[in-house]
Amino acid sequence: MPGAAVRDVSTASLRRDHDLIEKVLKSMAATVQLLESGKAVPAPILNQVIDFTKNFTDVCHHAKEEESLFPALQSVGVPSRMGPIPVMLMEHRQSREIAAEMEGRAREYLESGEYGPLATSMRRYVQHVTEHLWKENNRLFVMAEARLQRAASKVSEEMDEIERRRLEELGRERAHYERIVSDLDGMVRDVSRSV
Ligand SMILES: [Fe+2]
Ligand SMILES: [Fe+2]
Repeated sequence: MPGAAVRDVSTASLRRDHDLIEKVLKSMAATVQLLESGKAVPAPILNQVIDFTKNFTDVCHHAKEEESLFPALQSVGVPSRMGPIPVMLMEHRQSREIAAEMEGRAREYLESGEYGPLATSMRRYVQHVTEHLWKENNRLFVMAEARLQRAASKVSEEMDEIERRRLEELGRERAHYERIVSDLDGMVRDVSRSV
């Protein structure tokens, strides 16, 4: 069934990104616990969280949605001024704002050890992005998979190209961000085991 093979393609790449993002959110939630239990969270954990949220999630993943998925949905009649697309765009902006706040507070934490504001920003980011991913996975992507069957290959190719270009601009490869996901998990576990 060639149709069925193509059917999922329009969102496959985005769902793969979401899996990585969700793992980082898990590490971030664990980091909040560490901060609040008085553990010292080392700079590499915070730097990798910031690199991932700022560059992979915002620069790369959001561009794939904003420059390929949303226009493709608009081309099949999904409105751009109401409904899910403007809501998703607003949520991308909010996640960028929270990430910027979190970055500033991470710098302050590394200088002063004052963990409260950082933990608050991190928790807010985790909650905001968790809810955003849920809406995309269970609502927007389901709609896209149904409505973009004919355009699936084109959308998929566009997303590959956007990802390639954005990562090239960052001077990174996808493997770098995949490595961050597993490194973070290990580093957070190490801190939680330390006394
Ligand atoms: Fe999104
Ligand atoms: Fe997304």
